[in-house]
Amino acid sequence: MAGKIKETVKADERLRSVAIIMDGNGRWAKKRLLPRTKGHEKGAAILEDVLKAFRDIGVRYLTLYAFSTENWKRPKEEVDAIMKLAYKYVEKIHMDRLRDEKALTVRFIGDTSVLPEKLRNKIAEIEAMEKDDTFVCNIALNYGGRAEIVHAANELVAKGLPITEENLSRAMYTGDMPDPDLIIRTGGDFRVSNFLIWQGAYSEYMILDTLWPDFGREDIEKCVLDFYKRRRRFGGLDKEDES
Ligand code: FPP
Repeated sequence: MAGKIKETVKADERLRSVAIIMDGNGRWAKKRLLPRTKGHEKGAAILEDVLKAFRDIGVRYLTLYAFSTENWKRPKEEVDAIMKLAYKYVEKIHMDRLRDEKALTVRFIGDTSVLPEKLRNKIAEIEAMEKDDTFVCNIALNYGGRAEIVHAANELVAKGLPITEENLSRAMYTGDMPDPDLIIRTGGDFRVSNFLIWQGAYSEYMILDTLWPDFGREDIEKCVLDFYKRRRRFGGLDKEDES
């Protein structure tokens, strides 16, 4: 990522959790007359820099939508390429964690039980490691928001617990984490795409035209600064509007 994030761009307690829909890899490749898989390769290669940038500005949780429950519908060749990249970069990010004195915890959300064995083993290895919440990167793999809600509801039923908002929130894959304050979508489409549909009920959305492989320092700075201009009311009123 060219250049460093400006010192003035810092996350405070209003911006603890950010989630990203990394869209536009295919279009990035098409624009260059390259196969779609090249777009995914570039999209995966920027992850380490993106992670470091969000960690450096002080965001505590970063959730990345890498593969949805619907992405299996893509050609086998593309699915296989994404799985290989997922393995390669999950391992790389994992190594980065070690280089940076464990200042990164990698977690996974989604039904990882049906992923290729090699990837599952790597995930198991990472999940077995010591964790802290200095900076957590959730990688959503075979993730779907509706499937997650069904999974959480079934868990409550199995445990004989009442279906309440609090219990459901806790039974989500992200149960011990704060809901995203900001959800960024690259690639210009105004869609939620089954991503964090429970947790994102009151998230601020930012849609960028930038295609994911081009996502960089300026986009991150713009998102953070724009976020602070938003007035989050969570369905209530601002103080000055109350009378
Ligand atoms: C969306 O672009 C992107 C994906 C479905 C895959 C994202 C995967 C990576 C960035 C690599 C995986 C890496 C890890 C660490 C899990 P698109 O193909 O829908 O783009 P388009 O809308 O332009 O066609």
